Amino acid sequence: MCGIIGIISSKESKKLSEITISALKRLEYRGYDSVGVASLGSKGIEVRKAKGTVEQVTLKKKIPEMSGYIFLGHTRWATHGAPTDYNAHPHTDCSGRIAVIHNGTIKNFKELRAELESLGHKFSSETDTEVIPHLIEEFIKRGMDSFTAFKSAIKSLDGSYAVLAIIDGEKRIFFAKRDNPLVIGLGEGENYIASDIPAFLPYTKRILVISDGEIGFLTNTNVYIEELNGNVVDVHKRIRIVDWDVETASKEGYAHFMIKEIHESPKAVRDTISSLMSDLDVVEKICEEIRQAERVIITGAGTSYHAGLYFSLLLTREGITSIPLIASEYYNVKGKKGDLIIAISQSGETIDVLQAIRKLKSEGAKVVSITNVIESAIARESDYKIYMRAGPEIGVAATKTFTTQVASLLFLYSYTFGKDWKALKDADKEVEQAINATEGFAKRVGEELAKKQNIYYLGRGLSLPLAMEGALKIKEVSYVHAESYPAGESKHGPISLVENGFPVVFINDGEMPELLKNNVMEMKARGGKIYVISANRKVGEADLEIFLNSKFPALSISPVIQLIAYYAAVSKGLDPDKPRNLAKTVTVE
Ligand code: F6R
Repeated sequence: MCGIIGIISSKESKKLSEITISALKRLEYRGYDSVGVASLGSKGIEVRKAKGTVEQVTLKKKIPEMSGYIFLGHTRWATHGAPTDYNAHPHTDCSGRIAVIHNGTIKNFKELRAELESLGHKFSSETDTEVIPHLIEEFIKRGMDSFTAFKSAIKSLDGSYAVLAIIDGEKRIFFAKRDNPLVIGLGEGENYIASDIPAFLPYTKRILVISDGEIGFLTNTNVYIEELNGNVVDVHKRIRIVDWDVETASKEGYAHFMIKEIHESPKAVRDTISSLMSDLDVVEKICEEIRQAERVIITGAGTSYHAGLYFSLLLTREGITSIPLIASEYYNVKGKKGDLIIAISQSGETIDVLQAIRKLKSEGAKVVSITNVIESAIARESDYKIYMRAGPEIGVAATKTFTTQVASLLFLYSYTFGKDWKALKDADKEVEQAINATEGFAKRVGEELAKKQNIYYLGRGLSLPLAMEGALKIKEVSYVHAESYPAGESKHGPISLVENGFPVVFINDGEMPELLKNNVMEMKARGGKIYVISANRKVGEADLEIFLNSKFPALSISPVIQLIAYYAAVSKGLDPDKPRNLAKTVTVE
């Protein structure tokens, strides 16, 4: 995920640089590892960019000194290529007369780059985006006009994109969209185009949303859009006025980032799986390490540990010696040659996870990391790295990143043991269906649980890590005490708390509903109020049971436990995005 903004005006001025900077600040939640600006004025295109936040790069690169009648601004969330000065956008062609900013991923960039290099194009970054200005340059060289060249470049891409391009000598911003957001803001003699509405909201409330597969250009007074098949779009019908403030708009109509991010899970899972599928060389190497390892030690903290525990159970079931290790307890394990560590961390900066990998690595282990933040400390210290590609997560509670951790691990598991890993291509649809089918159930359960003092979350087998995650999630955002147990273990102590109305949430991935039913009956006999989240096979006997038909039960159940936690918090009037005492990245031991 990245943030993009384009502004076009009739007059050349430095004022546009200020508008660009303020728009980038509002877009920074979409990416924050590097920033860049391109201006186009009478002296041609100028690009200033660097690693760092909007504030740092603005100062370092003296962005307010730039002048032009068109500005492009980009804040990056690295996907291909480390967050460095040279990988920051905008990217230019060989001549520096074409500049491009992009949000998305281009799957066929390696092939395109090789072809362009064989034609003599010189690349200066590791990004997938850089193929776009070179493609435009190549098509112009072959005699096409600017817009035709831009269209031809876009048609060559396989992947997702919201792209803006400027070409020296053209008073137009060219744009195209597939799978990533792009919205136009219509001002007075000045137009805007950005990843989201808040970017330009202080300047105009007249907007026009671009649809997938559309391509066009923007002047300071006009918008032209056509579909990729050439049909011209009637833009006037699309214009609408928004009545939002900036805060509401950055949540895209959702009340909180947590619920927005739960709803982003299907796309996040789609991006996770497609990125793994396009990087099978690395996947194969990691899977071979898993097959060869004497022990696989899987470590993480909080939610990431739960994803790790899930993977550890999968490996153990295949006869692999696997140790699930809560990262902060790393000193309990002595590493040795032949060990493989799998370190899981959304932020990639959690100090406990770093300490764990540093110790075990120094004792001879190899390290695989699965992080969301590209080139984070944990990724840098690993022998092999996989990225979740979930996009930035603003809500403190991990939601879409947990689902993508499970998706990545399911992929590794399926690939390692010759299961049907290609089936995961459709996993995002199951996540989407689960969200759509359970919102009402989750709201009702969340509101009921919010009124309680204590809750049990119980599961067996692969459902146990999900029960642990369900308990953690509701506890951290709604401040209701929740504890998880293996369902069978509940009768060895925990059941003594159960009396009339005590809530017990069972997680049933469909593997052992008969055994779970025994535990349900035990809880019910003591007056427990029973909620069951079931995939594939029902338990029955519950006060309330939701049933999901799913090939990937963990992926379907994951958003349901998150939605329950969300609605519990909201019903108590709490802000689920900022639970008290918690930080998104924990860099203290
Ligand atoms: C729970 C949560 C935390 C994190 C934990 C690890 O919702 O967000 O438990 O999972 O602090 O963080 P990362 O994954 O960044 O290492």
